[in-house]
Amino acid sequence: MTLRTRLLAALVALLVVLGVAGGVVTVLQRDYLYDQLDEQLQLLAEQPGPVMNRLIRNGGQVAAPPAVTLTNMYVGLIRDGELTTLLAPTDDPDLLPAIAPTDRFERPATVGTAGGEAAQVRVMTAVLLNGRVAVFALSTAPADDASNRLVTTLVIVALVVLALLALIAWWVIRLGLRPIRRMTEAADAISSGATDRRIDVAPGPTEAARLGRALNTMIDTSQDAEARMRRFVADASHELRTPLTTLRGYSALHTTQQLDNADVADAMRRINQEASRMTRIVDDLLDLTDMDEHGVTHRAPFDLATALRDLVADLQVVQPDRTITLRCPGQLPVVGDRDRVVQAIAALATNALRHTPEHCAVEVVGIPTPSGGARVEVTDRGPGIAAEHVPHLFERFYRVDRGRVRSAGGNGLGLAIVAGIVSAHGGTCGVESRPGGPTTFWVELP
Ligand SMILES: Nc1ncnc2c1ncn2[C@@H]1O[C@H](COP(=O)(O)OP(=O)(O)OP(=O)(O)O)[C@@H](O)[C@H]1O
Ligand SMILES: [Mg+2]
Repeated sequence: MTLRTRLLAALVALLVVLGVAGGVVTVLQRDYLYDQLDEQLQLLAEQPGPVMNRLIRNGGQVAAPPAVTLTNMYVGLIRDGELTTLLAPTDDPDLLPAIAPTDRFERPATVGTAGGEAAQVRVMTAVLLNGRVAVFALSTAPADDASNRLVTTLVIVALVVLALLALIAWWVIRLGLRPIRRMTEAADAISSGATDRRIDVAPGPTEAARLGRALNTMIDTSQDAEARMRRFVADASHELRTPLTTLRGYSALHTTQQLDNADVADAMRRINQEASRMTRIVDDLLDLTDMDEHGVTHRAPFDLATALRDLVADLQVVQPDRTITLRCPGQLPVVGDRDRVVQAIAALATNALRHTPEHCAVEVVGIPTPSGGARVEVTDRGPGIAAEHVPHLFERFYRVDRGRVRSAGGNGLGLAIVAGIVSAHGGTCGVESRPGGPTTFWVELP
């Protein structure tokens, strides 16, 4: 059942409840008013003697039993098979109950009238000592009028309530349900190919508007992710195609031409180089997807200061002529996957060695952060990186100088892996660089 149907059903149910309650109240009120009339009739019918004697004797005013006023009362006498009026209500002097002379009413009953303004009366009869029959009647008009007034009031109240509820339902549907229908339509359209379509979100803080905005953001994000994934696959294929082409070229050369030993050795060296390059790319890609999928699994406390000292020593062996300095406290305890963290910092340091001339000094700095983690900075005095490249450096396969760096063996995946490792640790990383240098890559582990 849709929300709209449920809302309407609830409205109808509420109306039914209101109607039943109104009916019950009306019936109870009418019964109460009739009971009051009946009480007066019963008081007279139990002791008709005094009233009848005086009425017959005086033909005028009588002192009625306490609590009974005769102003509205009809009193008649059936004698010789005929009903004679002894006393008529002051406001309805022609009132005449429509009863046959033989009718007897020991309990109060409703009968019609044969004269007067009232349409119905409550009537009781009492047999007098002399065998004649006294008739007492009271018009039901005041009780009926009160009941009718109550019915009218209830109907008006019910109509007003109905109108108000209808208004509220319309408002709820307009504010809450119509936007949901629009969202469903937009979502259907998007899934059937209209990828540019977005949900029209009405301004304001309603739940529907917030849901619409959230859905739009989600669609944007997932389309961005899809586009990124497509670009990534295209880039990866492109990167792998170059070494594959080289491999095919050398193998074709070998089959189609007579090569001397020196040429074969050279071809083999190139084939080996390209195969290693492909292996590196595939390993890096596996590293990246592994990080995306599983994050880091071997978390343990370790001393980052020792790791940094070892790393700087290794780098110094690779480039003995370069000035490489380390600034770090004696101990720098952190929690994480030691191998991955070292891999990330090594990637930054290797970049500094690979992408700057050898006379440029490199400094590695390790400092504890106030939150109990550690920050590592790798600063080089190289020529710096142009501002337009800086925001893209951590993207997969991004290289500032595509041709030159590929020949130097760079795949453009190093920094993407750094970002993956750091975010898997819940940390952050970044770069500050100006043309002319210096360039600082930093990572912060929590
Ligand atoms: N310290 C640096 N100074 C100047 N340019 C840098 C520096 N570090 C990185 N870059 C630039 O950023 C690019 C991306 O670096 P990244 O480490 O991701 O890839 P790479 O070093 O080219 O290849 P690899 O995947 O082997 O690491 C590099 O190609 C280089 O152009
Ligand atoms: Mg690199």
